[in-house]
Amino acid sequence: MTNWLEIDTYAKKWIKEAGESIKESFSSELVIQTKSNKNDLVTQIDKGTEEFLIKQINTVFPSHRILGEEGISESLDNLKGIVWIIDPIDGTMNFVHMQRDFAISIGIYEDGVGKIGLIYDVVAGELYHSIKGHGVFMNDTKLKPLEKPNVEEAIIGLNATWVTENKRIDSSILSPLAKDVRGTRSFGSACLELAYIAAGRLDAYITLRLSPWDYAAGKVMIEELGGKVTSLRNEPLDLMTQQSFFASKPGLHEEILKKYLNNGAW
Ligand code: IPD
Ligand code: CA
Ligand code: CA
Repeated sequence: MTNWLEIDTYAKKWIKEAGESIKESFSSELVIQTKSNKNDLVTQIDKGTEEFLIKQINTVFPSHRILGEEGISESLDNLKGIVWIIDPIDGTMNFVHMQRDFAISIGIYEDGVGKIGLIYDVVAGELYHSIKGHGVFMNDTKLKPLEKPNVEEAIIGLNATWVTENKRIDSSILSPLAKDVRGTRSFGSACLELAYIAAGRLDAYITLRLSPWDYAAGKVMIEELGGKVTSLRNEPLDLMTQQSFFASKPGLHEEILKKYLNNGAW
């Protein structure tokens, strides 16, 4: 039998240690490189953090597999067994420009099912953590089950990509939603926006393309609290690929899909 409490204890210890090391790096010079485009940044701290986590996991849990954003571990083509899905720094642009509002995200899955979610907002000192079936916590505070807000009172996380020319969605689809909600926000770290839904600070988060390491941990937390996590067309998410993404408090997910997204048929 898998001892999830043991895995969780190690994961929390390592994520905290990685966070300390990131904080210490603030005084050192960053080596910034770009990946898929000029705004897709990576630093030696992203890579070093992923390396640190992989080393610890391989030492204590040699049979576990790892899917990390920076691709330092083996590449995976399935999620069989226990898989750690890691984003060493989610919000690298915030990390580089602002030294805040970034987080380490670790989701631990068994045969594709989320079992543990950890999101560590390093600078705020907020560790969001969840074991499936045992609730969600922010540090020592247990988070409440999510309840349905009205669209008119909702604050949704939405970055500006959809209003610019893009090949994924016509801006006329999302603009009525942006107009009807109480407010939109863009925090620049997908995993933090998901932690904020869990904590009740945001009501939903929509983005046109996300990778599994961005949401693997947040999905565990939001579902544990009764929320919904799907693609923008209401499809289940495939953790082996990139997809559009829509996480929301319960009820609001259905309402937005029906009223604004034609139940996914756009
Ligand atoms: C990015 C952030 C950002 C989201 C991007 C992600 P990274 O992750 O989560 O908020 O809009 O889609 O790629 O590159 O900082 O790990
Ligand atoms: Ca990252
Ligand atoms: Ca990311």
